[in-house]
Amino acid sequence: MLELDYDNMLATAVGEEYGIAPTELAALMPRCARIHADLMARHAAGELPFYDLPTDRAMLTTVQKLADELRGRFENVVVLGIGGSALGTTAAFRALGALHHNLLPRKKRGGAPRLFVQDNVDPAGFGATLELLEPHETLFLVISKSGATVETGSQFAIARHWVEERQGDAWQDHFVLITDPEQGALRRLANDSGMRSCAIPSGVGGRFTVFTPVALLPLALAGVDIAALLAGAAEFMTRAMDADLLANPAYLNGALQYLAYQKGLRISVMMPYSDRLRDVADWYRQLWAESLGKRMSLDGEDIFVGPTPVKALGATDQHSQVQLYMEGPCDKTVTFIAPRDYGVKVPIPAFAQLPELAYLTGRGMDELLRCEQQATAQALTRNHRPNCTIWLSEVSPRTVGALFYLFEVQTLFAGALFNVNPLDQPGVELGKQLTKKLLLHGAADAATGSSD
Ligand code: PA5
Repeated sequence: MLELDYDNMLATAVGEEYGIAPTELAALMPRCARIHADLMARHAAGELPFYDLPTDRAMLTTVQKLADELRGRFENVVVLGIGGSALGTTAAFRALGALHHNLLPRKKRGGAPRLFVQDNVDPAGFGATLELLEPHETLFLVISKSGATVETGSQFAIARHWVEERQGDAWQDHFVLITDPEQGALRRLANDSGMRSCAIPSGVGGRFTVFTPVALLPLALAGVDIAALLAGAAEFMTRAMDADLLANPAYLNGALQYLAYQKGLRISVMMPYSDRLRDVADWYRQLWAESLGKRMSLDGEDIFVGPTPVKALGATDQHSQVQLYMEGPCDKTVTFIAPRDYGVKVPIPAFAQLPELAYLTGRGMDELLRCEQQATAQALTRNHRPNCTIWLSEVSPRTVGALFYLFEVQTLFAGALFNVNPLDQPGVELGKQLTKKLLLHGAADAATGSSD
């Protein structure tokens, strides 16, 4: 269902300067074995609960029950959340829903509601979404692990007011709060008001929540087979926990990225050749950047480390960023994600008046895209640019579940290699504090450009 082809990361393919020699991988193995032992010990001690989410039957049942209760009652579901509370839903729904789901008539959506993910506080964007909706047929999922995120809080305040104006006291029926099981403002509100709520399991941080109600509830409401998504991840668990570096694609990809970084390849491009998988690159960008970009090592030293993730899309970016990847500074790795089967056949018919295109006649659009991916990989390789391909047998709940799981474990493993804590994000705190300060004391000054 999922295969990592890393030949083009190796010195044998791209040369010794940037390619990884088998000896370098071998030299890393003892360290990888220690990291594996440590991760497994922490997992056994209950410290890394995200590992077990795919097999959490109780959580799945809770989400399915809630989705059943709400199903058919609303024409629109709107996710209010940001970062890890939004990106997983966007990525998974793009991959597994109909590509133009919200434009389809209800019948063609199988009766499922339209799904909107509001992951910003741009008044233009938020206002434009509300303009499309009617309060009486709209359900909001307010998603925040901490319950204290200013963007989500402001969205919630606006949405509540908007619904209350039309629905009066029934406004509460239009909201589900998805938050920490015990702490935070949203949990307190849920407890005090009796509003519908769902718990994000303790110990699972924002960007590792794609297998929790954070993404599972909106996906289930929008008609995605969440049981199959979890089953795909569960099926991949054994491989992602294999001690053998070469047999474990999550560890191996983490190790290859780490070794490439040591060679100066500090930019990590992810380039799906699939419209469906486009937003997986966005989700991964947050996971990789927020987890690995750290000032301090686990030993408390300043190291200012972290690969910079970049997202691209094939074939679109062949006419955009690929020029840079081919001939610009050799400071990148490119990870392609390529489905073997696109699930749809669109044959290219003959076009007599354009004989220049005759070689396309009868070929499928999928074939064209597949050839473009392989050609780009070959061209990068010839230009001594390391790249690898994650092949998916198809884009389905099962393979996408496995893919998410692979990247989560890869990130955890890479964190250990980079000697940082991949589960925290101290660097974003100062910006949050300053935002609050500006709102309380200095918004006008900030707008006019004066300082403090
Ligand atoms: O990964 C993370 O922890 C963050 O990106 C959070 O998901 C994001 O900041 C939103 O936080 P919260 O879910 O607490 O509102």
